[in-house]
This record gives sequence, C-alpha cells and structure tokens, in this order.
Amino acid sequence: MNKKKIIIELTEFEKLEELSTQDRSLMKMAIEARKNAYAPYSSFYVGAAIRLENGEVVIGNNQENASYPSGLCAERVAIFQAGAKYPKVTIEAIAISATSKNHKVTEPAAPCGNCRQSISEYEFRQKKPISVFMMGETGKIVKSNAIADLLPMAFDGTLL
Ligand code: THU
Repeated sequence: MNKKKIIIELTEFEKLEELSTQDRSLMKMAIEARKNAYAPYSSFYVGAAIRLENGEVVIGNNQENASYPSGLCAERVAIFQAGAKYPKVTIEAIAISATSKNHKVTEPAAPCGNCRQSISEYEFRQKKPISVFMMGETGKIVKSNAIADLLPMAFDGTLL
C-alpha cells in the first residue's frame, strides 16, 4: 500500500495594490467584465479576464438562461473565446471576480468544478501552467500557480 499527499500552494494578497501592475490590470478587466454579466436569475455577477502570451486580453462573464443548465460561467465564456480566437497562443493567466445584488462578496470566487475541467484542457494542450487569480468584490485575492493545483488528478485526453 502507498499513501500519497497532495500539497497545494496558494498565495494570498490583502488588496489589489499588492499585485504586479500586469496582474492588477488583468483583475481590473475582470471586475469591469462583471458589468456585462447576464445574471437575472442568480443576481451573482462574475467577470473573467484572460491574458495571453501575445499581450491580448480576452474577457468573459456569466451568461444565464431561463433553462438554468443552458447558461455558462464567466470563466468558460472567456476560455472558449480565447481558444476560438487565439488557438495557438499560450494562455498565461486568468483573473476572476464576483459580485452579488444580494450581499457583499468578500471572499475570493473560486472557479466551479466544470470551469476547472474546461480550463485544464487548455493547460494540458499548451503544456504550460495557467495562473488563476481569484477575488470577490472586495477583499483579498488568492492566486494559484496552475489550474492543475485546483484540480488534482484531472481527467485528460491521454486516457482516451
Ligand atoms: N458562476 C460563474 O460564472 N463562475 C463560477 O465559477 C461559479 C458560478 C456563475 C454561474 C451562475 O450564472 C451564477 O454564477 C450562480 O451560480
């Protein structure tokens, strides 16, 4: 029998000003992207901004649907857009921010399981880690150095 432990390393920043200029600007774009979220059912507005190696930024926000499962999270709107527009360009980082009409979101918004799986596909594809910056509306920002750290033992195409 073998026992294994998986250790995840996360970095916490107290406020936006602690991020590098480049990362702060990406988070500001995620915050801005929240404004165009279409979330009439949950009133929970998520913005995502993806920075590519060529300097381009692709944004996304959650797009809900009266048939709830037909809607899509901000992260997947953004990552699929990046894949559609820049299929050969390395993705460096994704910033996520969330706000709600009902309460103040003070804890970082971590991507849901489906989004982790979707982003993971691109991390495998490019063989380079994608940094994830997570934030609520205000308060601390948490950084993961790779999506693989947020989704240990991910299912990937090598099994198929
Ligand atoms: N949502 C996201 O956009 N990203 C996540 O990672 C979690 C949830 C959206 C989906 C839905 O529109 C709303 O937040 C409430 O779940």
